[in-house]
Amino acid sequence: MSAKMTERQAAQRLKEIAQQMAEADRAYEDAAPVMTDADYDALRAENLALEKEFPGAKRADSPSVKVGTTPSGRFPKVEHARPMLSLDNAFTDDDVFDFAARVKRFLGLSEDAELVLTAEPKIDGLSASLRYEDGTLTIGATRGDGRVGEDVSANLRTLDDIPHKVKARGVLEVRGEVYMSKSDFADMNEAFEKAGEKTFANPRNAAAGSLRQKDVAITARRPLRFFTHGLGELSAPLADTLSSTTSALEKLGFPPNPLAKICSSVDDALAHYRLIEEQRASLDYDIDGVVYKVDRLDYQDRLGFVGRAPRWAIAHKFPAEKATTRLLDIAIQVGRTGALTPIARLEPVTVGGVVVSNATLHNQDEIERLDVRVGDTVRVQRAGDVIPQVLEVLTEKRPKGLKKFPFPETCPVCGSAAVREVNPRTGERDVVRRCTGNFICAAQSVERLKHFVSRGAMDIDGLGERQIDDLFRRHMVREPADIFTLQKRQLAGAFNVPGTSDLFAYKKTSRRGSAAWTAEITNQKSIDNLFAAIENTRQRPWGRVIAALGIRHVGQITANLLAERYPSPDAFITLGAGLQEEESVAREELIAIDGLGETVADMLTAFFSDRRNREVLERLFTELSPEAPEKVADDGPLTGKSIVFTGGLTEMTRDEAKAIATRLGARVVSSVSKKTDIVVAGEKAGSKEKKARELKLEVWDEAAWLRVARG
Ligand code: IVH
Repeated sequence: MSAKMTERQAAQRLKEIAQQMAEADRAYEDAAPVMTDADYDALRAENLALEKEFPGAKRADSPSVKVGTTPSGRFPKVEHARPMLSLDNAFTDDDVFDFAARVKRFLGLSEDAELVLTAEPKIDGLSASLRYEDGTLTIGATRGDGRVGEDVSANLRTLDDIPHKVKARGVLEVRGEVYMSKSDFADMNEAFEKAGEKTFANPRNAAAGSLRQKDVAITARRPLRFFTHGLGELSAPLADTLSSTTSALEKLGFPPNPLAKICSSVDDALAHYRLIEEQRASLDYDIDGVVYKVDRLDYQDRLGFVGRAPRWAIAHKFPAEKATTRLLDIAIQVGRTGALTPIARLEPVTVGGVVVSNATLHNQDEIERLDVRVGDTVRVQRAGDVIPQVLEVLTEKRPKGLKKFPFPETCPVCGSAAVREVNPRTGERDVVRRCTGNFICAAQSVERLKHFVSRGAMDIDGLGERQIDDLFRRHMVREPADIFTLQKRQLAGAFNVPGTSDLFAYKKTSRRGSAAWTAEITNQKSIDNLFAAIENTRQRPWGRVIAALGIRHVGQITANLLAERYPSPDAFITLGAGLQEEESVAREELIAIDGLGETVADMLTAFFSDRRNREVLERLFTELSPEAPEKVADDGPLTGKSIVFTGGLTEMTRDEAKAIATRLGARVVSSVSKKTDIVVAGEKAGSKEKKARELKLEVWDEAAWLRVARG
């Protein structure tokens, strides 16, 4: 698919992937997964492939760099002394052979040299880092985004498997997996069920939910356990190999996994994988694969990391688990851009120990491809503990008379027409059917608001999806501007929707039948924090504001280009008006921006053509005073030049380089064209450098760039 892609499309797709993965990560951390592992892995693979093809489009927050989620703010944040990384995956034996071959090549070992690996189960829990200073447990943290985690020291101290004191001097950071056994999980859920409390979907969610409790007494009552699987910062090595280190840690009181084995060849390691796979069902804890690690620590040091994962380890995943059940119904969900997504409602079935009652059907074409009909018997697959998918229909089991699913041509939420757009240029029909209701569609409105406040956009602390749902339902926030007038209206007692919510409770103040309700603050502190957070976002950088609007095809990169060319809300509104004219000059100018094209122009034209969109913007803009984009110097050494960065820089990040170039007067663009003046080609620059050379443009190496950058 990337063969025909332009850099701009790649950038857009990378943004979408980053957002989807970030959302999936957050949901996963919140113990409410929204994506299958297989889908997640597919996104990751697509991300890597696109970044390889378009290195210039790689994002600072790329999932290939970022690990896990950004911490939620419920616990104090701690920066890990050494990052907590993730693992690359292997799915086949060949992948494992490739891994070993890569390691040997990197180390300069011959193909038939012995490479000792450890093989141990990959525990389906959540990782934790335990820091001991002179033998005392000082900080216990979750992984968070890999760099910064949450300080859950008090919670971790409640685990029997975690010693509070150890015989060790200096700094010792032990890492491992917090988990709940299957039997403890079953007992706990049974007790919860009896007590009428909410139960957990699976042991992993139960472990995550139990560890991240504000009230430590609750964590203490939960049966959490710990397996050691690695190290963080260390004053002095404990041994030369990982396996001896694990033994040394065991003596200090850290439980190793009993199935860990030292293997002297890939064949050995694979044999151990099969043994563990056979035992999987009878183990009292969930595992989702086997982790192989290079045993020699000097090798590990030399191998180091690429992006988010060590070169010296790999996770060999078990195949996804499958089950057969009946399709009871197909429900349609409506997203921010109006996309109608079909969800399979299933007769509950246990797949790998988890009860599944919903699965994704992706889109209309997928329903047609599977020819799935309500009443069919279907195979479903669950990989990891995320939303399962429907794999196939067992047509031989189909009862007579089942009708094809009539995919709705109107929005189930607002009743507007739902259409599959045809791209006027390619003539291709979009796989996604979209509601055209826009502002009258409650589903779209609320999803747009969620996007607006989300981390990738305005990032308003304390306003999450739940609060938006709630405020929207109560008609307290119906469009972005409302967020900024919330405090004024709240002070004026203007909310008049009954009930209690996360943020506000409502006191009935009615007399004589006509109910009136006054908002009453339930938790003054969190309300104060929320209002402070909202105030803080009034000055978000202008480019972020544009991206937060959630206009289709206008992701962060496009938004930044727009912000640069239209540096204020007024300029943006003027653009919108200009786009409505026939043979629009504004459109010509817009398309002339390097990195933008017809699609974005079409999307913006459509967006501004709706009067309600213009009104929403005007109301929003009166509330904001966005930070203007960095001014391009008019007498800098790069004034008037357009510059492309490609490949990796060693001395600074791409973002820093772009900021410097902008300060020096350059226009930073993402794709190379005749109009480009300078191409800075860092390490492993690919197609762009090639193109620059073909076009005989000025190509700088990093050293040349640094001379200019550092003046
Ligand atoms: S080693 C440099 N060993 O899997 C990372 N990780 O997908 C070293 N995990 O964040 C991790 N069981 O939380 C390792 N036996 C095991 C593991 C394991 C589970 C988790 C760990 C890590 C994640 C990566």
